[in-house]
Amino acid sequence: PALADSDFVIFGGTGDLALRKLLPALYLRDRDGQLPAGTRIVAVSRAGLDDAGYRDKVRGSLPAYVGESEPRELDRFVSRLSHVSLDVDDAAAWIELADRLSVDANPVRVFYLAVGPALFGPICRHLDEHGLVDAESRVVLEKPIGHDLASAEAINDAVGAVFDESRIFRIDHYLGKESVQNLLVTRFANTIFEPLWNAHAIDHVQITVSESLGVGSRGGYYDAAGALRDMVQNHLLQLLCLVAMEPPTYVGRETVRDEKLKVLQALRPMTADEITSSAVVGQYTAGLAEGTAVPSYLEDLETESSRTETFVALKAEVCNWRWAGVPFYLRTGKRMKRQYSEIVIAFKQVPHPMFPGSDGEQEPNRLVMHLQPDESIRLHLVAKEPGPGGIRLRPASLDLNFTQAFGAKSPDAYERLLMDVIRGNPTLFMRRDEVEAAWRWIEPIVAHMASGKSPRPYPAGTDGPPAADTLIERDGRAWHESS
Ligand code: BG6
Repeated sequence: PALADSDFVIFGGTGDLALRKLLPALYLRDRDGQLPAGTRIVAVSRAGLDDAGYRDKVRGSLPAYVGESEPRELDRFVSRLSHVSLDVDDAAAWIELADRLSVDANPVRVFYLAVGPALFGPICRHLDEHGLVDAESRVVLEKPIGHDLASAEAINDAVGAVFDESRIFRIDHYLGKESVQNLLVTRFANTIFEPLWNAHAIDHVQITVSESLGVGSRGGYYDAAGALRDMVQNHLLQLLCLVAMEPPTYVGRETVRDEKLKVLQALRPMTADEITSSAVVGQYTAGLAEGTAVPSYLEDLETESSRTETFVALKAEVCNWRWAGVPFYLRTGKRMKRQYSEIVIAFKQVPHPMFPGSDGEQEPNRLVMHLQPDESIRLHLVAKEPGPGGIRLRPASLDLNFTQAFGAKSPDAYERLLMDVIRGNPTLFMRRDEVEAAWRWIEPIVAHMASGKSPRPYPAGTDGPPAADTLIERDGRAWHESS
């Protein structure tokens, strides 16, 4: 069936997220003819712009993200835009917004809250008071949902008092990435991996999200969050869920989320001693990023001191029959050597080395799922080195590069996710219980780190503090060297 026209209301409409991600994603979907014809986009901010001023702003910002546009396509998109100036506490402005939205109202209203989490509750309350929410309305919440379990629950209560859970879309943009959805397909649309996907065959799992960029202009937000809240609580745990979950009976809006929730609930809570021994936090100092000298985190923030971690490595365990005894090593950081994300499924060593001279030399098999920037799946095998002189073992690999294989560039995660909101499909969004389960597990780690020693320094352009290597090497393993 054709999609209903929607009024897409973006709170924080002049902010970084809206200009860098949301509007480019909506534009690209519009260009491909996917936005319902009558879609309107109403930006709400405190910028004091009129419609023409906002349209100019977007015309100026879009090309950097979407390249050159056909004038006709750009004009059509820009004509959908308008702007309402609103301060959340300003009653008159809310009346103006309500008036604006009531003129030729579209059947579906999407409220995208691209603002700090402290405003989620108040905005929803105002929307309700002004009669702007009906059974077809949806609200989209950007992360972070709070800064700990209690604040997340309070936000979820406040938003839930206005919107039914099925109408709340909590974004984790990693779930919109093609490569991340492909995890589900690799596991559950093929038969060859799943029989091995457990503690019998797998030695350990590594999940790395390595960023070469620093905190940039987001220091204010980041310094209050840190890598555990900014990346691990959401993106890395979601990746872990997709690797560890049981197969749902079918891909439905609740079935996938039910299975992810079970994984989060199976994460073993870490005691204070375990956190000390199984988690490492770091903060970047000045160094070289891809050959260019870059300042330290403190210099980026223009501050004397901060205990905020820009790097985390930790060892997690999923306590269930499938995964008992298989460590999941998670690692993420800013200003690291390279920009890439990957998941490594490290299989066990052969039970008995039968080739002469192979004792201890043979690399165990690894399945490396490279999520970004390039999307590929590589199965590391052992092969016979060609030659007449007996059997010599040599590492070799089977490679599937998605761009080469399918010849298509992956759309940005927001393109997929915003269309899912318009379609009313919440499968790839985080349900309340998932967000809260993730906080429940990570909160003690955040608290312990905050009260413990300062993060370990690591020079920008490196793979984090040496203690992160020790963390895994102590277990007789090593971080996968991404190629
Ligand atoms: C965001 C974090 O959610 O994800 C950022 O707040 C981080 O700090 C970003 O840089 C990483 O996303 P991506 O898509 O570039 O891997």
